[in-house]
Parts: sequence; structure tokens; C-alpha cells
Amino acid sequence: MVVLIYVYGILFAATAILFVAQKVNRLIRKRKYVREHGCQPPATLHNQLPFGIDRVREMLRAAREKRFQEMMQGRYLQTGNTFQSTILGRSYIFTIDPRNVQTVLALKFKDFDLGDNRNYAFRPLLGQGIFCSDGPIWEHSRALVRPNFTRNQVADINVYDVHVSNLLRLIPRTGSTVDLQDLFFRMTIDSATEFLFGESVHTLAPHQSADASRFAADFNQAQDTLAFRIRIGPINKFHRSSEFLGAVQRSRAYVDQFVQKAIRLRQSPNHDESQNINKHYVFLNELSKKTLDATELTDQLLNILLAGRDTTASLLSMVFFTLAKRQDVWKNLKTEVDLLNGRKPSFTDLKGMSYLTWVLNETLRLYPVVPTNIRMANKDTFLPVGGGPDGNSPVFVPKGMDVVYTTYSMHRLQSIYGPDAEEFRPERWGTLKPGWGYIPFNGGPRICVGQQFALTEAGYTTVRILQQFKGIESRDPEPWMEALTLTMASKNGVKVAMIPE
Ligand code: HEM
Repeated sequence: MVVLIYVYGILFAATAILFVAQKVNRLIRKRKYVREHGCQPPATLHNQLPFGIDRVREMLRAAREKRFQEMMQGRYLQTGNTFQSTILGRSYIFTIDPRNVQTVLALKFKDFDLGDNRNYAFRPLLGQGIFCSDGPIWEHSRALVRPNFTRNQVADINVYDVHVSNLLRLIPRTGSTVDLQDLFFRMTIDSATEFLFGESVHTLAPHQSADASRFAADFNQAQDTLAFRIRIGPINKFHRSSEFLGAVQRSRAYVDQFVQKAIRLRQSPNHDESQNINKHYVFLNELSKKTLDATELTDQLLNILLAGRDTTASLLSMVFFTLAKRQDVWKNLKTEVDLLNGRKPSFTDLKGMSYLTWVLNETLRLYPVVPTNIRMANKDTFLPVGGGPDGNSPVFVPKGMDVVYTTYSMHRLQSIYGPDAEEFRPERWGTLKPGWGYIPFNGGPRICVGQQFALTEAGYTTVRILQQFKGIESRDPEPWMEALTLTMASKNGVKVAMIPE
């Protein structure tokens, strides 16, 4: 017995010594790394209460009052473009310096991951798809998905033409108030499901199948819960909800029907590729040329639906919110649209419409659909600037630390956009070249694959609406207020009256 206690004692002591030695060794290596790269600590956002409870309260209040982005901008104005903050015992680096953002997203891409939080929060619905994986799994997804967004496919306006027509039918011509944001969200799920599965859920059409309506409702509910799960951070591992799981299960089962059909078709001995010629482009058909793994196909389709649907709807909502408040911008855009003499725009027409491009750019600048993002260091690394009293020294980022970059605040930096940075002025895009100071679609190897698709759909929809109406009136006296879910939209929708030609 005594011998046993003695042996356990030695084992315990040895483990403790090893643990301390590892810690000391890590500290020495960290110090050496910091010295070698000339790293200095960034400015600190000091807490008044233990664990940064005051900061959490401030954030919750700002979120409740729909001014979270404004609050973040205030913090950068107070501390500078890069600062460190400790919230509930965890340290974060916040930055809006384009050089740091470029480092995280491109130059040192391999040093950063999305992090467990996001991947774990999204996984029940999205599996191992492109939007919630890192490393080799993400590389595989990207290689699978990316080739399906070539110029030819993006230029196929037929994919959304019918849905834009359905939307136009629902805009009152009597001067009564309509919430365009609601219509845009319905239109983009209609067009995205058609593009992805080959069959639209038709939420804007006079008649829908019960299954399709159920899917649209389930997908919305599942997506809202994902937004909640990501916000509660690491606690999401303990989040359980039978309603959420039901919505996830039904959403996946709905998509699986199309996947099984595509697999059967491709495996059929009589399968003839030319059967698809002259039909609309269908993403699932293209993807099934590369894999016949049903789970993988369902994962990727749901990932693209999530990434592509709300984002495009939010952009359109912000464009029309602004147009309703800014008659000068409406007038300039209308002049450009009228040059088409009522003809539906082609892809080439859209690319040649410079004022339209400026309006879309400026909307994404002031109202970036993804206003904040996070990357987690997967090894000790450093950012090029933000440290030391003058903010010009590199900043050490230890393995496991989150770097938050706030696109909303970066897009409003006077150092890039001038003293009128807060103003909506499309003309600035005539000469502006903001580089990494403008990242509505992110940048680097994980840049949005749907960028051209989104800009084409948003541009096409905008032009078709302007071709049918000679004016727009805001029916919302309030200024714009954020609605934050997974993306950012307008809290009060886009309440307007449209005046027909
Ligand atoms: C205005 C519309 C859109 C905006 C502003 C936008 C923005 C973004 C941003 C900021 C990211 C990076 C997210 C991150 O890494 O954390 C992203 C990724 C992505 N987007 Fe978009 N997006 C839009 C539309 C679309 C559309 C229409 C599609 C597809 C049809 C799409 C597909 C994707 C995919 C698949 C990714 C993940 C890329 C990867 O991780 O490799 N997006 N988008």
C-alpha cells in the first residue's frame, strides 16, 4: 500500500513537473518569437468590471437598440484601428486596418481558420460543406464548387428572370405601401432553389406545393437558429432544440429528394448528357458529374443556398432603401436604365452600366451584408501593424486567439474614403481604388464564389424594377437601422410606394 502511494506520488510529481516545464518552454518560445518579429501589444480596450461584464452589457444593449455596428465603430474611434479586448476571460484582437485584414485573409491564409465556433454552430444543417469547414475538407469543397461559377453560368439571366417577373407582379401600382425587403427575400429563395436544385420553391408565385412552402419555412427557421448558435459562442455545443432539429431534418430530406433524382439519372444506363442541353443551368447536375455521394451533395447545396440567398436579398433591400430616400440617386440611375429603351438587360448590358455598378458598390460599402467576421489563429503568428504606442509595430497573435475584422467600420474609414466617408455618394467609384479597404465579398482564397452571380442578379432585378416604375417614395420616416442575423438587413424592412410609368 505504502509503495503504491509512493509510486502514485512520483507519477503525480513527474506529471506536474512536465506540465510546468511545457508551460515555461512555451513562454520562452513565445517571448523569443515576439522579440524576433518586433511585436508590441496593441491598444487595450479596458474593462471597468471583472471579466468584461461591462463590455458584454454594452454589446447586448447596442444589439437590442439595433446600433451594434455603430457601437463597434465608436470603439475603433476611441482606441485606433487595432485593439485588444478581453470578454468573459477570452482575449480578442479587433482590427480594421486593411494591411492586417489582407494578412489574415490572404498573405497568412494558412495561419488562420474559421474556428470551431462557427463550424460547430453550422454543422447540424450544413454538414461538412464549404461554408463551415477548414483545411483539406474546405479545399476539397472549394475545388468541387468553384468551377460551377464560370462566366457563362453567371451570365444565364434566365435563371432568375421568371422570379423577377413574379416579384414585379406583387408590387402595387396604386401607390399603396409595400415592403420590398420581404419580396426580395422571397425572390432570392425562389431563384436560388431553381439554380441549385432545378426546381424553385416559388414563394412568390400564385401557387406553391405544400412541400416547397414547408421547406422555405423550415430553412428560414433553421437558419435563424444558426444565427443564434453562432452568437452564443462556445456554449453552442450545449444547445439542444427539438424544433431546430426537426427543421434541419426536414430541410435536408427535401434537398435529398433532388439529390437522389440526380444520382439515379446519372447512374441510369440510358443517361445522355445531351438531354440537358437547352435547359437551364442546374448546379446539382453539374456537381453530380464530380461526386455521387448523396450527403456531400446535400451538404454543398445547403451551404450555397445559405451563402447566396439572404446576402443577395439584403443587398437589394439596402439599394432600394437608399433609392427611396435619395431621389437624386434614383434619377441618375433611371437615366441610365432608360437608355435600354425598355429592353430587358443582358449580362453585357449590366456590365456596361457604370452608374448601376457604382450604386451597388456604394451600397455594399456603407451596408456590407457581412459586417463583421472572425478568424482564429491555428498557430502562433503575427499581424504586420497595430502594435506599440504609434500602432506601427507588428502584433503577436497566439495560437487559438480570434481576430475580429469589422468590415462595416473599415468601409467608413476617412483615411480611405475621405471626409465624406459616411455619405452615400456613388460617384466616388469613378476614381476610387480602395484595395483591401473594401471587402464586401471577403478576399483571398476564401473570397465569395458567388460574387458575380449576386451582382448580376441584383443588377438585373434593379434594372427591371426601374423600367416599370417612374418613381419611388419612402414610407418609412426613420433612418436605416440594422437587423443582424447571419447577415445584415434593414430592421424596418423597405417600406415604399412605387409610382408606375
Ligand atoms: C451580395 C451578395 C453576397 C455577398 C455580400 C457575399 C459575401 C460573402 C462573404 C463576405 C463571404 C466570406 C464569408 C467567410 O469566409 O466568412 C462569402 C463566402 C461565400 N459566398 Fe458569398 N456573398 C454574396 C452572395 C453569394 C451568392 C449569390 C453565392 C452563391 C450562389 C455565394 C456563395 C458563397 C460561398 C459558397 C462562400 C464560401 C466560400 C469559401 O469559404 O470558400 N455568395 N460571401
